[in-house]
Amino acid sequence: MSESLLTVRDLHVAYGQVVALRGVNLHVDDGEIVAIVGANGAGKSTLLKTITGLLSPRSGAITFDGDLIHGRPAYELINRGIAMLPEGRELFREMTVLENLHLGCWVNRRDTKLRNERVEEVFNYFPRLRERAHQRAATLSGGEAQMLGVGRALMSNPRLLLVDELSLGLAPLVVAELFEILKTANRRGMSIVIVEQFVHLALGNSDRAYVFAKGEVVATGGSADILNDPELGAAYLGSSTETAPPPRTAPKKRPAKRLSRAGQ
Ligand SMILES: Nc1ncnc2c1ncn2[C@@H]1O[C@H](COP(=O)(O)OP(=O)(O)OP(=O)(O)O)[C@@H](O)[C@H]1O
Ligand SMILES: [Mg+2]
Repeated sequence: MSESLLTVRDLHVAYGQVVALRGVNLHVDDGEIVAIVGANGAGKSTLLKTITGLLSPRSGAITFDGDLIHGRPAYELINRGIAMLPEGRELFREMTVLENLHLGCWVNRRDTKLRNERVEEVFNYFPRLRERAHQRAATLSGGEAQMLGVGRALMSNPRLLLVDELSLGLAPLVVAELFEILKTANRRGMSIVIVEQFVHLALGNSDRAYVFAKGEVVATGGSADILNDPELGAAYLGSSTETAPPPRTAPKKRPAKRLSRAGQ
């Protein structure tokens, strides 16, 4: 039996005829930051949505804290300690900052004391959200909106936070600020999975990484090792030393280099 916080075994997920994940194995240990990288359509968001109960797998198993959780409803998974920043944030634009934060604590909505404490914690992480508490989300800048997205995910005080495309459309300084917040949350005990198209950011801010291609894990290892592997970079990640996001296009077909066997 694995003692990892999260274990994904032989996971297959499809959208009708479109197979998105083909036998994915991975794990996240308590206290880790794990990156998932790979080209457009590789299956990264599908993985996160399946872990958070938004999609049900065709086969395979997901274990969280020792319990099988795949196919369980999303609200139950939030209760168990899994939260997600979805790709594109998905804020309620006509609601205020505070109302959006409250939604992140919806499961405990009747416990207003707890809810207010969590809001206070989020405001301590992001003082700018405190200033904008009663503004509509639609009036926020891109960076502030992403702060709200992260803040809303933190409202359930998760043990595991899944972050899909933190850097999407944001200036590098704002992204760096957001990553610092995630690292602080990690130091305080939160395990984190980051899915990120900006490969050097993902690998530079994580302990381990999995490289996805066409619904499969094609390499896994320490993030620094993957970052410094020129063959892997050329085949799957764009140039790993890029200072700008790699183009969001499919990788050229080249044989995969495995730093270690995919999976555990
Ligand atoms: N709602 C959907 N209906 C049908 N096919 C889908 C749906 N969502 C994703 N797919 C397909 O599943 C595969 C994996 O998509 P997914 O969004 O998980 O990839 P991704 O790695 O997150 O890509 P990106 O970097 O563009 O966010 C792709 O082939 C995609 O076209
Ligand atoms: Mg995606």
